[in-house]
Amino acid sequence: MDIQGQGVLITGASRGLGRALAEALAAEGARLALVAREAGPLADVVATIRARGGAAHAVAGDISDKHAIHRIAGQAQGLVGEIGIAIHNASTLGPTPLRLLLDTECEDLAAVLETNLVGPFRLTKVLAGAMALRGAGVVVHVSSDAAVEPYPRWGAYGASKAAQDHLSRILAAELAGTGVRVLAVDPGEMDTVMHAAAIPDADRAALQRPADVAARIVQMIRDAARAPSGARLVAPAWELAP
Ligand SMILES: NC(=O)c1ccc[n+]([C@@H]2O[C@H](COP(=O)([O-])OP(=O)(O)OC[C@H]3O[C@@H](n4cnc5c(N)ncnc54)[C@H](OP(=O)(O)O)[C@@H]3O)[C@@H](O)[C@H]2O)c1
Repeated sequence: MDIQGQGVLITGASRGLGRALAEALAAEGARLALVAREAGPLADVVATIRARGGAAHAVAGDISDKHAIHRIAGQAQGLVGEIGIAIHNASTLGPTPLRLLLDTECEDLAAVLETNLVGPFRLTKVLAGAMALRGAGVVVHVSSDAAVEPYPRWGAYGASKAAQDHLSRILAAELAGTGVRVLAVDPGEMDTVMHAAAIPDADRAALQRPADVAARIVQMIRDAARAPSGARLVAPAWELAP
């Protein structure tokens, strides 16, 4: 897919991987609608991108709030036009320190699912029909190795990411032939606020920089042959084309 001129919605774009994706896609000429709950950090990302000549707009909102989804999508479309690329990147770990599954409150599990699974699903329901009608679009679900590995204490988060992976595969199967590609991408471990909250004593020097991961995800979005619909891709294993 040609990224130049595409309308792009990125959730969780105020820091970490979401911010890096916003900066990388803006540099490619995309028009961005950037979503996060806190307006201040989002405004900083928008200002940085605009100062470099990019096109970005802030859409403050909580993707776990079902009453906010139509406003978020509508505002995004009003600001950047039709959304050709939707990146579901915002996510929560649930309460930290992470706890054993049997010590996890049912309400906390439900809240993690609302942010990591149901909210992205609601947004896709709003956006993907128009993509299919236009015969083009890419939906990216940012996953995790916790979707595959049964790490103790990562139960709520891991279950949400595993469910999102499968949702991604089923959407891809149902949208086959429409021109809409649906991907799940495990970014690998990155030096971000989320990683620090989960593993405070990690060696930060051993973690990937979000910008390096974003560069790989941009290539996945562009390259339908190497990143076909329904694929689950692991960013550190993705070879960057020159
Ligand atoms: N970091 C890692 O090592 C790692 C590893 C594997 C997978 N991942 C995945 O990679 C993605 C990005 O992670 P990250 O480490 O960059 O996270 P991060 O630094 O914690 O950033 C999370 C972003 O999501 C936003 N957000 C959180 N809840 C939201 C909500 N309910 N509605 C709207 N926005 C919300 C946050 O802004 P507000 O707080 O202002 O809303 C922030 O912009 C996530 O899907 C994560 O699961 C990360």
